[in-house]
Amino acid sequence: MARIGIDLARRLGPLDRRIFGQFIEHLGRCVYGGVYEEGSPLSDGQGFRRDVLEAARPLRIPILRWPGGNFASGYHWLDGVGPKERRPRRSELAWYAEESNRFGTDEFIAYCRALGAEPFICVNMGSGTMDEAQAWVEYCNGTGNTSWATLRRQHGHPEPYRVRYWGLGNEMYGGWQIGQLPARDYVTRARAFAMVMKRTDPSIELVGCGQNGWSEWDEITINGLAEFIDYHSIHLYTGGADHYATVFQSHQAERAIRICAGLIERARYAQRIAHPIAIAFDEWNVWWRTRSHADRVGGIEERYTLTDALAIATYLNGFIRHCRVVRIANFAQLVNAIAPIFTNPQGLFLQTIYHPLRLYAEHTLDVALDIHVEGETYDLPPAQETGGGGRVHHVADLGPFGLVDAVATTDAHQRELTVALVNRDRDRAQPATLVLAGAALSGAATAWEVNGPNVTAINSFEAPRAVDVRERKIETGPGGLEMMLPAHSLTVLRGGLRR
Ligand code: AHR
Repeated sequence: MARIGIDLARRLGPLDRRIFGQFIEHLGRCVYGGVYEEGSPLSDGQGFRRDVLEAARPLRIPILRWPGGNFASGYHWLDGVGPKERRPRRSELAWYAEESNRFGTDEFIAYCRALGAEPFICVNMGSGTMDEAQAWVEYCNGTGNTSWATLRRQHGHPEPYRVRYWGLGNEMYGGWQIGQLPARDYVTRARAFAMVMKRTDPSIELVGCGQNGWSEWDEITINGLAEFIDYHSIHLYTGGADHYATVFQSHQAERAIRICAGLIERARYAQRIAHPIAIAFDEWNVWWRTRSHADRVGGIEERYTLTDALAIATYLNGFIRHCRVVRIANFAQLVNAIAPIFTNPQGLFLQTIYHPLRLYAEHTLDVALDIHVEGETYDLPPAQETGGGGRVHHVADLGPFGLVDAVATTDAHQRELTVALVNRDRDRAQPATLVLAGAALSGAATAWEVNGPNVTAINSFEAPRAVDVRERKIETGPGGLEMMLPAHSLTVLRGGLRR
């Protein structure tokens, strides 16, 4: 039994739609064979897989990060522009592959335009130079009479691309990163990059390279870059074989956000920084099955269960609860590599995790509300924390965890209400009562439920709808709205409001 109290007057703040961002990296079959497949009957004239575009559109992607990820730290953008037959084929050292460079900056921008997404480019701070990053900004955004701006025009793009978001390197702290750096060295280098990039186009916004939000790396880089950055990035991957560990580990994102927000506030206060600095949670997902070297070479094609879909909904709830500070989030990744869309040369199917991503992007409204959930809880024993086969994320202390996790959003005029309710209970349905203050639902609400036969259910080419979405109407009663949340389900409820 869960009681969910929503007071329409208690607003958390505006919800930034950029939390529904996505990420594509030159990794396995994400770009080549996913987003882009030349010569396929499924592709359009530009080489974009039409079926993938159609599947991506309902995710309403506001911002798309590219080209990596680890790939970014060895990528020279100049290799990927100009006539395709003249582009060099290079060794790709992040994922032990070869890069044809047939998908480059101009193709990426065209893809963003096709999706209606804002491009977000992560520059190479591994093997790349300051000059290269500066030239990349100028190639994309330059309007002057310089050779870089002219090169873009020569490639058929007279208008500047106006790429607003630029990442200052990817995971530069990690031993797996090309050109890994100690935090203080990264700060020195990133400040130099930031200066020339911003001078090239003062309207761009910079994302500093953070770690998990709570580390010493985060502290040093926030302090060292606060003057220059508009966002600090966080990456987090969670999950394991255990259902409860997986769904509750998503709350680790909220710890990351809280600590990181404190570090940012401290730096801004101590340094008297007037401009806002938000969090860009620019890689997040469940990822634990495809972690070996062979999996990396194989393109980390993780297959997702219903448990994972509930974990994804829980992450999104966390971003919504922290909407004041999380302004951008990019799901890692869009196609094939740890992704909601899974292709083969003949078609695609939607993984379980597609459904929460789509429902939230479609139904979440512009203002997040503070909401009170009272109900049964679950304690995660420390032994369960690894999730069995996953990474250790110490989250037991964040418990006890409510079995039902919920968020609510409304529009600026409070005409509509959307409530997302995740019942993480593996075995039992949970009755839930919605009690509204300050307004009432004006009639029946629509509910979309993501569910499947059991928590280990996955989708596949053979059974693409084992985990699917079911729509139904829910009537409001005198005591509010009462409903049954089936075991292991996500319910997104949307209805009109009257005062
Ligand atoms: O998304 C997969 C990889 O995870 C990215 O390339 C990297 O940034 C992170 O380690």
